[in-house]
Amino acid sequence: MLAGYSLGMLTLTQRLGLRLPIVLAPMAGGISTPELVAAVSTAGGLGSLGAAYLTPAQITEAGAAVRRLTQGAFALNLFAPHPTVATTGSEVERAAAELAPFHASLGLQPPELTAQANPDFGLQLEAVLEVCPAVLSFTFGRLEAQHLEALRSRGILTVGTATGLEEARQLEADGVEAIVVQGGAAGGHRGGWSEDELADTLSLTRAAAQSIRIPVIAAGGLMTAADVRAVLDAGASLAQCGTAFLRATEAGTSAPYWAALAAAKTGDTVLTRAFSGRTARGLRNAVTEGVQQPLPYPFQNALTRSMRAAGAKAGRADVLSLWAGEGVAHGLAGTAAEILESLWN
Ligand SMILES: Cc1cc2nc3c(=O)[nH]c(=O)nc-3n(C[C@H](O)[C@H](O)[C@H](O)COP(=O)(O)O)c2cc1C
Repeated sequence: MLAGYSLGMLTLTQRLGLRLPIVLAPMAGGISTPELVAAVSTAGGLGSLGAAYLTPAQITEAGAAVRRLTQGAFALNLFAPHPTVATTGSEVERAAAELAPFHASLGLQPPELTAQANPDFGLQLEAVLEVCPAVLSFTFGRLEAQHLEALRSRGILTVGTATGLEEARQLEADGVEAIVVQGGAAGGHRGGWSEDELADTLSLTRAAAQSIRIPVIAAGGLMTAADVRAVLDAGASLAQCGTAFLRATEAGTSAPYWAALAAAKTGDTVLTRAFSGRTARGLRNAVTEGVQQPLPYPFQNALTRSMRAAGAKAGRADVLSLWAGEGVAHGLAGTAAEILESLWN
């Protein structure tokens, strides 16, 4: 079934014991539940759990939950440590003022920025080492040599994320074992840390497969079997799909988010910093249109947290981060196994 594709693909699929060369993208924030991850892994793809917002104890628990549900290989995913940009009091006031009407509409007090700490990456990584998944993928940057070595020495495959060729080359030079190349159509946060070319997924995949020697995993706008086949033909070892799984039965997608996805049409996504302070692609709504001066990540993320939580409970898609890729209109509802099969046959 897999004959005719690159040696890289055979190596990666064989090493991970996959039946299909398809990765469920990690989706932090509760979308990639242990049930979704396990369902994809059991059905022959590689399930990935977005663990970036989890505490070390929650990572241990989520890893154990996946293990209880599947014998298949799975990935955990973290945000690489990244420097925090300082922010001033007047910037905070402006950002809070922009969000205040949305808060008021939900019966919430205006947002206040309390002390914000990025999660402790070192402790998250310790939990990952303890869980010992087949793969640790990461995004937003590079890992220190000692961290890569700790993962490798336990047989955990390391996968970095690049949005352009220069980042891909840097990750390869760091000794990472495979690279997700993320095209501009991708849903969710832009995964790069330097240039962001918003590249065409197919062109970036082809260029990366030609210029780096480690396996390339293509991501961004892959919604159909034809999309998957095209990136494999362009030299990718695996295809990583996020938006395609957002309406899987096992996903943690909230009811208003689900309804917005079901109604979405081509052209409905925008790049926005309104929710987190980092550029991400999602469905256009009142917040992406109304917020002009967000704080840098992670401050804006903290400032919008209570609004997003209250919005999900109140069924209000207008105040939620509705991450989705440009292919959203081609998304299907069904079990993860059904969606996975639709991406192959
Ligand atoms: C809801 C959502 C959450 C995401 N969260 C993460 C994440 O935590 N870590 C990560 O590496 N990528 C994350 N991504 C990006 C995916 O890894 C991938 O690049 C993207 O889904 C591919 O494009 P597609 O959505 O068009 O399939 C997320 C994407 C979505 C849609």
